[in-house]
Amino acid sequence: MKVAIMGYGTIGSGVAAVLERNRESIAGKAGDVLEVKYVLDLREFPGDPVQEKLVHDVDVIMNDPEVAIVVETMGGVEPACTFVKKALSAGKSVVTSNKALVAKKGTELLDLAKEHQVSFLFEASVGGGIPIIRPLNQCLTADEIMEITGILNGTTNYILTKMATEGITFETALKQAQDKGYAEKDPTADVEGHDAGRKIAILSSLAYGSQVDFEDIYMEGITKITDTDFRYANAMGTAIRLLATSRRAENGFYAMVAPVMIGADHPLYSVNDVFNGILVVGNMVDKLMFYGRGAGSLPTASAVVADVIEEASHPHTTLLTSWSTKKLPLADMGTWVRKFFVRMSGGPEQKAQAEAAFGNVEYIDAGVPGEFGFVTPAMSEADYQKKAAGIQGVLQMIRMEA
Ligand code: HSE
Repeated sequence: MKVAIMGYGTIGSGVAAVLERNRESIAGKAGDVLEVKYVLDLREFPGDPVQEKLVHDVDVIMNDPEVAIVVETMGGVEPACTFVKKALSAGKSVVTSNKALVAKKGTELLDLAKEHQVSFLFEASVGGGIPIIRPLNQCLTADEIMEITGILNGTTNYILTKMATEGITFETALKQAQDKGYAEKDPTADVEGHDAGRKIAILSSLAYGSQVDFEDIYMEGITKITDTDFRYANAMGTAIRLLATSRRAENGFYAMVAPVMIGADHPLYSVNDVFNGILVVGNMVDKLMFYGRGAGSLPTASAVVADVIEEASHPHTTLLTSWSTKKLPLADMGTWVRKFFVRMSGGPEQKAQAEAAFGNVEYIDAGVPGEFGFVTPAMSEADYQKKAAGIQGVLQMIRMEA
C-alpha cells in the first residue's frame, strides 16, 4: 500500500522513520507493506534517502491512484486544509497530526471524508503519542463524559516542573526549554495556553458531540507564574499545572485553560517534565488516566502511523463519528465554584482586609518577607473577582482544584 507524507518536519520525518524501523511488524498488522511513495516539502534534503521520493507539487500525489493514504504533518491551517480537501475529494484517506487544522476545520473535513467514503483520522493531534481520540470514540461510547482535564502541553509542563524543583524564574526556565528544543523561539502559543486550548477544544467537541471553538475558551497562560508562587506551592505540598479542562455543569459546559494548584491526591499531580496526562471522567466508568509523551518526533509519529495502520487494515470503515457544527453551550466562567490561592503584600492590616473580604481564610507560611499568602473558602469566580477588586495589594491569584 502506498502512502504519501505532506510535510517532512519533526513529525513527518518521524512517520517515515517509524514506517521503516517497524516495517515488518507494521506489515503484519496492516495486512500489507506500507510504502512511502512521495514526500511533499518545499525544501530539498540532499544526502537524505527521502530526496528520491521528494515532490514539490501536491498534484503529483493527488493524481496518483496508487496512493491510498495521505499523511498531513505540515501544521497550520493553510495550505494544509486545501491539500487535505484535495486528497479526500480524490478518494484518499487522510491521517493528520495537525491540531490547528482539526480544531478549526474538523467537522467540515469529517463530512467531506464521509461524502467520499474515505477516512479522516487525527489521533496525533492531541496528546502526541497518547491514545486519547480512539478511546473517546470507540471505547467510552457507553458513558456520558462528565469532565476532561489535561496537561496537554509538554513545553509549559517542563517549565513549571523546572520552576518547582529548581526555584528558578519563568524566564530562566523558558530559556532552558528553548535551549533543549522543547520551546520554540516564539513560545507564545505554548506559554499563553493557545496550544492547550486547541487540544481541549478538539477533545471537548468529540466528547460532547458539538463544536467547541477554541477562541471561545477562557485561556490564561503561565507567563505570570513566579518563583515566589512556587515557594508557597512547595510549602503547601501542591503542584502548579497548566490545566486544560472542560466539564459538564448544570448551565452548560465549563471550558478553560489556566494554571491551577493541585494537591498530591490529584491524578495529574505526578505528571512531570515534558509528559502529558489526561484525566477523563465518565458517568459510568468514573476516572480514567492517560499518560505519556505529548510531543516529539517518534512518539507523535507512533500515533500517526497507528492511524495509518487502522485505515490500511480496515479501509474506509474507520470513519469517526463526526460532531455537530452546532456550538456547545459554554457556561459562564463566573459561576464556577472553587477555592483560590492568593498572595497579598503587607502585614496585619492587609490580613484584616483579606479576612473582611473573603471570610475564613487559611494562611500559608512560606517565609516570604513583606507579603503573605492564603487560601480562600470555596466561592464562585465572579464572587472572588468582586471581593478581590475591593481590596488593595493583591499580588497573585491561582485557582485551586481539589
Ligand atoms: N509545543 C507542543 C507541546 C507540541 O509542548 O506540547 C505538541 O503539540
